[in-house]
Amino acid sequence: MEVGQRSLRVADLERTRVVFGEARTLPGEVYISDDVLRLEQRGIFAREWLCVGREADIPMAGDWFLKEIAGDSVIVLRGTDSMIRAFYNVCRHRGSRLLDEPQGRGLARVLCPYHSWSYQLDGGLQNAPRMGADFCKGDHSLIPVSIGFHEGFIFLNLDRGAQPLTQWLADLPGLARFRIPELKRGRRIEYDVRANWKLICENYSECYHCAGAHPQLARISEQISRDERGQEIGACFNGGPMRLRDGIETMSMSGRSTLPTIPGLSLDDCRYVHYYVIYPNMLLSPHPDYVLVHTAWPLAPDRTHVVCEWLFTEEAVGAQDFDPSDVVDFWDLTNRQDWALCERTQAGVSSRGYRPGPYQSSEDCVHIFDRWYADRLAGLL
Ligand code: FES
Ligand SMILES: [Fe+2]
Repeated sequence: MEVGQRSLRVADLERTRVVFGEARTLPGEVYISDDVLRLEQRGIFAREWLCVGREADIPMAGDWFLKEIAGDSVIVLRGTDSMIRAFYNVCRHRGSRLLDEPQGRGLARVLCPYHSWSYQLDGGLQNAPRMGADFCKGDHSLIPVSIGFHEGFIFLNLDRGAQPLTQWLADLPGLARFRIPELKRGRRIEYDVRANWKLICENYSECYHCAGAHPQLARISEQISRDERGQEIGACFNGGPMRLRDGIETMSMSGRSTLPTIPGLSLDDCRYVHYYVIYPNMLLSPHPDYVLVHTAWPLAPDRTHVVCEWLFTEEAVGAQDFDPSDVVDFWDLTNRQDWALCERTQAGVSSRGYRPGPYQSSEDCVHIFDRWYADRLAGLL
């Protein structure tokens, strides 16, 4: 494939696809090329299961939000039967965009602003003015998008032939003990990062940079050796735990927690924070007293929209003096430090002077992510 002045061949990915000890990081083209991003949108973002939000985001019939995936706008909507469905945001008449706002509540029907065709919340065509006696409404329902649910999260897949979500997530470690479906969103911050989406996933996958870049994090959390707790790896994810230092209760500015622990967690779970990259773009981090979730959405080769949410127990959010700033400030600061690292890496991998480099021994999860990606991209070239 021609990529600007250069060409990207499957052979260029081979050095990433070999065993960890011999592997090199990805070639620069995958971080800077519009053509590669187009391939990723078509072959990854339009074909994989993607976490787009939570069931709790649209609790009532008629509640909805829009999500842009690989250039398509999708409506995620709770019906009068309480089922959540997803449809392309495209009218079946002449293709007008239907909804414009990013989210809304209590919609009674989806009305096309162009010629006033209207749709029920289950996607069926309700009314098409003056279309004539032989017009079949049943043939003109909104086009559905595959949807699945896991731990309260909503996943979409634009590929109608994709394996079911349950199959895709089959080897993801059980997270039921964190009670994620019951947790309430305490905070959401969105970031516009001037770096490729893969740099964000790679950066999340290692803490080699932590001592130098995150003094506030390194003070309270320690990287643990592979022997102590094995890395967790599966077809859809990789990840691993980090241990809180003695006397530290959670990841927060103070290292203390004023929030209730997620009920039922073992003492062991209260000593670790788990970090999972769920391919391609979900970063899931259960803590003893909250769950942190990032999703990273490519806007351009060198630009990514990151959505970060903090989920807390109902008891915490319901308290009159609920104040999550200790943990929100901690991760907001850490996020911003990370984005700055990703942006300086974007500048470097864009240079003619960039050469794929070696992984340090604690960067095995970066390599696992890169190899997953290189395998996918090789299949698309
Ligand atoms: S395009 Fe929607 S009603 Fe005509
Ligand atoms: Fe970091």
